[in-house]
Amino acid sequence: MKNFWNQYERAQMHEAASDPWRLSYHLMPPVGWLNDPNGLCEKDGITHIFYQYSPLEPKGGQKGWGHYSTKDWKTFVSHPIDLVPDTALDRDGVYSGSAMIKEDTIHFFYTGNIKFEGDHDYIYQGRGHYVNTFTSQDGITFSEKRNVMKNEDYPQDMSCHVRDPKIYEENGTYYMVLGARTREDRGLILVYRSLNLNDWTFHARLEKDEPFGYMWECPDLFELDGKKVLLTCPQGVEQEGYRYENLYQNGYFLVQGELEDQMTLSEFTELDHGFDFYAPQTYQDAKGRRILIGWMGLPDVDYTNPTVEKGWQHALTLPRKLWFEQDRLYQFPIEEVLSLQKDLYQGTLKANELYDVKTPCFHATFAIDADSFRIDLREDACLQYQDGLLTFSLGDSGYGRDQRHIEIKQIHTIDLFSDTSSLEIFINNGEYALTTRIYDSMKMNSIAIDRSMELQVRTMDHYTIE
Ligand code: FRU
Repeated sequence: MKNFWNQYERAQMHEAASDPWRLSYHLMPPVGWLNDPNGLCEKDGITHIFYQYSPLEPKGGQKGWGHYSTKDWKTFVSHPIDLVPDTALDRDGVYSGSAMIKEDTIHFFYTGNIKFEGDHDYIYQGRGHYVNTFTSQDGITFSEKRNVMKNEDYPQDMSCHVRDPKIYEENGTYYMVLGARTREDRGLILVYRSLNLNDWTFHARLEKDEPFGYMWECPDLFELDGKKVLLTCPQGVEQEGYRYENLYQNGYFLVQGELEDQMTLSEFTELDHGFDFYAPQTYQDAKGRRILIGWMGLPDVDYTNPTVEKGWQHALTLPRKLWFEQDRLYQFPIEEVLSLQKDLYQGTLKANELYDVKTPCFHATFAIDADSFRIDLREDACLQYQDGLLTFSLGDSGYGRDQRHIEIKQIHTIDLFSDTSSLEIFINNGEYALTTRIYDSMKMNSIAIDRSMELQVRTMDHYTIE
């Protein structure tokens, strides 16, 4: 299977690579489909970025893990596919998982998806959703896969949706968080505990008193700036005004209380308000930074990506550093990404004057001193702010993506990272974020503002894949 996937990738790569919408400084699948980032870690100066990968099908099919690595975030190695659904523990999918480094060994944990024989609905019965593990010294060669938990190890009221293990270590104890859906369709997180990464015992449930969606996917528990954060992606949450506009949500709770004891979850805060952001995962790098990468996509939506015709779909977001200001999680691309930029323009752009960047690959910073404004970008993207409401819209270049909104009291800066077919927008230095794919002709790469404003524009260089 491995050989076939690798051969297929090599044979189809040129077709995908010829697509003008291939991104220039974002990671994409060489061919086929990509979703969640997986197994993020840094070891011996090399950062490993795995991802859910379905090379044979740009619309998604059986999943294995794809793999990039980098020493500097400018040159990446695309590794041959090694983690495919080829054992009885994961024959229908090497689903999402994570990495943790202990005593010079990388320990990976992931979900093995198994569809049992027979006529099943796969939500409440008929599916194995195992926690499996394997290890590696170098991030490139892997031990045999081994099972650590099966369906019968989960609480009896769980459906067949328990997945996406992530490990958090505190005072010599390991905690594994798993996203879950009960048989009564309530989303929650299961927490398991271990002293040796091998024997896991059930520890706690993390949930809201009032139901909040039917399934919580891709949990990530970590400590940052003295706060405990639980990232997760709840499904089945109803839109409330301008909140929860996407089909599935992404965001975080602050965890109050001790892991050893009673824990409660704060209100849920959305992390990224764009059309294309899901399943973010974090890791701590050697410099001590908490870095997040998300999937620049969303499952089951009705808007589309025209790259499918070229045999590929989806990408990862830029790596973003996380930090807290008061109780709010901020995010901004790491400095290595900023070093791909070259200064192009700094000055005052006059009202309604068109600034032509001449390339879709740029980083623009707007210094804002007004309580309403309108910024027109590229062919038909627009950011409009009035009465405390930011409205982002895409015309035809959205391929079905229409409008998203964020309620913001005050805007003082906007940083916009534009790539051939993506936009990542950071407001107030990362207080709010909005990520989306965009598909225009790339012939008009201009910026126009309805009032005069300080603007800085840098071009973004492309990175290299070896
Ligand atoms: C999230 C997700 C995970 C699962 C993986 C399968 O996008 O549904 O819960 O492990 O994708 O590809």
